[in-house]
Order: sequence, then C-alpha cells, then structure tokens
Amino acid sequence: MKKIFIAPSILSANFAKLGQEVQEVLLAGSDIIHFDVMDNHYVPNLTFGPMVLKSLREYKITAPIDVHLMIQPVDSIIPSFAKAGANFITFHPETSDNIKNTLSLIKSFGCKSGLAINPGTSLSILDEFMDQIDIILLMSVAPGFSNQKFISSTLNKIYHVRKKIDRCNSNILLEVDGGININNIIEVVSLGVDIVVMGSFIFQSKDYKKTISIIKNKLNVLHI
Ligand code: DX5
Ligand code: ZN
Repeated sequence: MKKIFIAPSILSANFAKLGQEVQEVLLAGSDIIHFDVMDNHYVPNLTFGPMVLKSLREYKITAPIDVHLMIQPVDSIIPSFAKAGANFITFHPETSDNIKNTLSLIKSFGCKSGLAINPGTSLSILDEFMDQIDIILLMSVAPGFSNQKFISSTLNKIYHVRKKIDRCNSNILLEVDGGININNIIEVVSLGVDIVVMGSFIFQSKDYKKTISIIKNKLNVLHI
C-alpha cells in the first residue's frame, strides 16, 4: 500500500505555544510539518520566517519541515530557510524572476524543491521543470488563509498532475493544500496524492491524536 503523508499546517496552530503544538501533532502520528510563509505582499497575510523555523529545530523538532513560501521576492530569503533547517522548499512560480535559478538555489543547499500552483494557474507551467522538482504543491484554495472552502475544480487538476508525473516516470511527490477535511480527504487522496496538508481540521480539533487516527483509519480503507 502506498504511504500517504499527513502534513499539518501550523498556520492554524496556537503561536503562543508553537513548539508544543508541533510536538503534539507529531506525537499524534503526523509525518511532515507544513510551514506557511506569508509576506503581506504576494498574499494579504503575514506569518513567520526562518527564525521561527530555527526555534522549532532548537526545540528538538526533527521531523521533515515543508516550507511553503508565499513571498515575493523569493530568492533572497531561501538561504536563511535552508540554514534554519528546512527540508522541502516550495515557491509559487509567479514570485520568481527565474524559476530555474530559484530551483537550483534551493537544491544548492541540499533541500528538496517544489513548485506551488494556484487555483487559477495553468499546469503547463510545470512542463519544463519536471526534471528539476521534487514536489508539486497544488493549491485547493487561494493562498493566504486557513479554513477556506476546498475548490472542487482542483480535483480535475490533481488527476492531470498525477498523469503528468506518471508519464515522466518520476518520483515527484504530489501535495494538495487547502480546505481538506474528513469529508473530502478520500476523494482527494484517491486521485493519487502523496502529501495531504491539513490546517484547521487538525488544529481546531480538541484531541490531535484522536483526529489523526480518524484520518488514518479513513485512509486505510483506500487500497492504492
Ligand atoms: C493557505 C495555506 C494552507 C492552508 C491550510 O495559503 O497554504 O496551508 O492554510 O489550511 P486549511 O487546511 O485550514 O485550509
Ligand atoms: Zn500551505
């Protein structure tokens, strides 16, 4: 059975006790920490930067950290995220002056690199970079805020990205981000998703362990 990674987005966590929140969702059984970086310029919201990531590492968080950059310009801050301990760094192609160079910059620090595709962005942008990326992050909401409604046309995009990856016989991981909850996770994942980002559904629940085991039980029913 294929492993599906659960990636809680800390955008919905309680920032006053972030280290503890991250530790708890990991102990509860999640796999990857999704770290949403917003700049109040590319998106109309402002979150956290490399120093917060570094603090999580100092708090002994050893799990993979998946940095989702929603910032412009993007290149200048990438070294700081890499040095702070990021494992994956994903950016939106619209934020880069030279996508190929930004991908190489991420790789030069030994991080995995990814491209994030907005609901309104065409998938064709991926074609020339398929051999340089490790992750495709499909946005299923407009970037900027947690707790939004899943945009159903993303399902068709997931299907096509999966085909694209399989056609290249590639190991690229397909990640979907935004509006995923217990009611739509099966529909999303059964189309061939590898990483499911979940913010509000996990962090707004009272008992993370219980919530994540409900998610895992639901995923176990899938035989893919
Ligand atoms: C939106 C972020 C997401 C999002 C996930 O810009 O990239 O990670 O907050 O949160 P939920 O699961 O609440 O949509
Ligand atoms: Zn995100």
